Amino acid sequence: MMSLFEPNSDAFRDDPYATYRRLRDEAPVYHDEQSGLWLLTRYHDIERALADYATFSSSRGNAIVDSPQRVGKTLGSMDPPRHDELRRVIQRALAPSRVQSMLGVVKELSRRRMGELQERKSFDFVEDFARPMIFSALGIMLGLDETTAVEAEHLARNLFEGHGGPMGNALPAEDFAEIWKFLGGELAKRTASPAEDLFSVLLAAKAEGANLSDEEILGNMSTVLLAGNASLGHFFPNVIHALWQHPDQRRAVMQDPELLPAIIEETVRWDTSTQSFARQVMTDVEIDGVSIPAGSRVVLFYGSANRDERVVESPDTFDIGRKRIRHFGFGLGPHICAGSTMARMVCRTILEDLLPFLGDYELDIANSRRAHHVMVRGFKSLPLVRQ
Ligand code: HEM
Repeated sequence: MMSLFEPNSDAFRDDPYATYRRLRDEAPVYHDEQSGLWLLTRYHDIERALADYATFSSSRGNAIVDSPQRVGKTLGSMDPPRHDELRRVIQRALAPSRVQSMLGVVKELSRRRMGELQERKSFDFVEDFARPMIFSALGIMLGLDETTAVEAEHLARNLFEGHGGPMGNALPAEDFAEIWKFLGGELAKRTASPAEDLFSVLLAAKAEGANLSDEEILGNMSTVLLAGNASLGHFFPNVIHALWQHPDQRRAVMQDPELLPAIIEETVRWDTSTQSFARQVMTDVEIDGVSIPAGSRVVLFYGSANRDERVVESPDTFDIGRKRIRHFGFGLGPHICAGSTMARMVCRTILEDLLPFLGDYELDIANSRRAHHVMVRGFKSLPLVRQ
C-alpha cells in the first residue's frame, strides 16, 4: 500500500505540495515508519514548535542528520540562552551596513557573468549563472579570492545531491571533513593577517572579549558556505521558474522594479528553497491529539506551512500582489534566518540586472534536474533559452 509520504518518488520530488496537502488534511502529525521521523505540516503546529524551543530543541542540529562537528557550534544547533548570546556576535558580521558595502562588488560580478553569457542564446541557468554567482557572493563575504571561491564551490558540489537519501545526511561525511579543513585554513590565514571579511569581524569580536571559540567561528562559517549555498543558490532558479510560469507578473516587475521585493517574498513563501528543518523532542508532547515521545526527531515542513489553507488565502496561487503574511520561508522564532536581510539585498541587486538581461525566456523543464532532498527545493540543472 502506498504511504502518505514517499520521499523517494519522482512525484514527490517534482511536486511535494500535493503530498503536504494530504498530510495536512489526513495526518498533520505523521510518523514515518521507514525513517522513524515525525513530520509536522500545519502552519499553527509548526508555529507552536518554533516558539517552544525547550520541547522542540535545536541542540541536536537543525538538519535532519547534522554533521557531528557542527552540532553545538552553530546558531542552528543550540538553544537560548547561549544561542542568543552567540547570535548577537554573528549578527554584527551580517549587519545591513556591512552587506551594503559589498553590494557594489556583487553587482559588478553579476554584470560580468551576464557579459560572458551575452553571446549564448541557451545556457544552464544553474551551472552557468546561479551557482558560480552565489559562490562569488559568499566568497566575498568570507574573504575568498576568485580561485579559492571556485575551490569552495567544488568542495560543496555534493551538497543535497541525495547521496545519503532524501531524508539522510545532506553532505557525505568525507566531503564535510574537507570543507572543515578548508575553512580551518582560511581561519588561520585571517588570524595571521586580518581583512574585512566575516572571519575577520568575528576574530576581532573575540579579541575584544566576545565569548566565541574558534570552533564556533568555523561552525558558523560552514553555515554561511553550505546553508547560504543551498538556500540562496536554489532560490534564484526558483524565482526564474516561478516567473516563467507567470509571465504577466514577470512583465509587471520588469516595468516596475519596485516590485522586486514582492517577487522575492512571494517566491520564498510559494516555493521556498528551504523546505524543512528538524528539531529534537526533549519531553513527551501531544499535538493534534497525537503523542510524540521524548527523544523523537521531528521535521517541520516550512514549505507546507506556507501553503496551509487554514491560514493563507489561495495558498497555491503565486501572487506578488498578495497582502504580506507571516510565512516560514526564512523560519520564525529565535532561529529566524540570520542572513535574511543579506539574502533580500543580494537577490534584489542581482535580479535588477538579470531580469532585463533574460528578457522573454523559455525553460526546458523536460531536461531539468531537481535537487533530491526533503530539506531543499531547487534545481541542479535548469536549461534556459533567451528569445
Ligand atoms: C533565500 C535565501 C535564504 C533562505 C530562504 C534562508 C532560510 C533560512 C531558514 C528557514 C532558517 C531557519 C532554520 C531553522 O529553523 O532551524 C535559516 C537560518 C539561518 N540562515 Fe538562512 N536562508 C537564506 C539565506 C541565508 C544566507 C545567505 C545566510 C548567510 C550569509 C544565512 C544564514 C543563516 C543562519 C546563520 C541561520 C541560523 C540562524 C539561527 O539559528 O539563529 N541564510 N535560514
